Amino acid sequence: MKVAVVGGGVVGLSVAWAAAVAGHQVQLIDAAPGSGASWVAGGMLAPVTEAWPGEEHVLALGSASLDRWPDFAARLDKNGGLRTEGTLVVAVDGADRAELDGVADFLAKLGREVTRVTAREVRRLEPSLGTSVRSGLLVPGDLAVDNRVLLSSLRKAAVEAGTQPIAVAATSVSAGEVALANGSTVECDVVVLAAGAWSGGLYNGLAKVVRPVKGEVLRLKARDGALDPPTRTVRALVEGRQVYLVPRDGRGLVLGATQYEAGFDTEVTVGGVRDLLRDAERVLPGIGEYAVLECAAGLRPGSPDNLPVLGWLEPGVLAATGHHRNGILLAPITAEAVVDLLAGREPPEPARAADPGRLLAVTNGGG
Ligand code: GLY
Repeated sequence: MKVAVVGGGVVGLSVAWAAAVAGHQVQLIDAAPGSGASWVAGGMLAPVTEAWPGEEHVLALGSASLDRWPDFAARLDKNGGLRTEGTLVVAVDGADRAELDGVADFLAKLGREVTRVTAREVRRLEPSLGTSVRSGLLVPGDLAVDNRVLLSSLRKAAVEAGTQPIAVAATSVSAGEVALANGSTVECDVVVLAAGAWSGGLYNGLAKVVRPVKGEVLRLKARDGALDPPTRTVRALVEGRQVYLVPRDGRGLVLGATQYEAGFDTEVTVGGVRDLLRDAERVLPGIGEYAVLECAAGLRPGSPDNLPVLGWLEPGVLAATGHHRNGILLAPITAEAVVDLLAGREPPEPARAADPGRLLAVTNGGG
């Protein structure tokens, strides 16, 4: 089939790559591929430490996708930037500790591999963490990826598999047709809408379904003489707020993330940067000696129930969007589901809960 994938972030690139490998004739439409939320992201592959009671479908989907990540990465240049050191969640004050205990109980009940560790063990595992850390939870299965290595590896793989990039913005999507900003149209058998936070502006039926959720992220680097960054991803609860520190090669560290409902605002605010640095310094006191390389804001594509929107919107239009905080994690299972749907098959079981029908019926009055 002729397949037009709209959106060249991690989801669109993964879908284009998988669809081309499956034998489809694929065009990938994006004026600036890999420059949106996927570029700003921290790169955590963290179904367990992103889990929230009541969102068991999100956890099941994320876990199924994480299971696919090692094979997915092995087929990519530079192993797709995958890091396998695992994740450590830490708590700072008494209330954070109680929240951490609650998370540990919830995850243990679900049979997830989590180990409680004392403050002393936390510092043995990650000597750069400070004495304000009161307790921790080791989650070895939650991994991370260098998102920028991943994007370049995916672009290479998609093109090598035969994907044709079209570097023009899409303005709307309908069955078998994508209108472009230069006035032309792309005709195809199926459009896959993978435009993240912009999906609702391209397809009316998603206007009330997918919304932008702003996140500010800093990129830092330990200067000579500064303490090393942690080796694992560290997620900290600091007086009820959450901050994460994701290590990168070359003593780099990604620090995130704020979360606001602020429309399509991608300006980085002083308050956002201050909050992230203040909370990060509570757990990693040496961070004051780090260099600030970059401050950026991305727009997560939020959905009403935090599950993606993955399936047929109408004949000829497939949605692969609404991945909210988990786009990088969910790329492998999303690509697999799209290839299944293109072939007329059911997608993998955990992806079925993400079918758009659950939302379109509610938000569009049953239409
Ligand atoms: N997955 C982390 C974030 O969205 O900030």
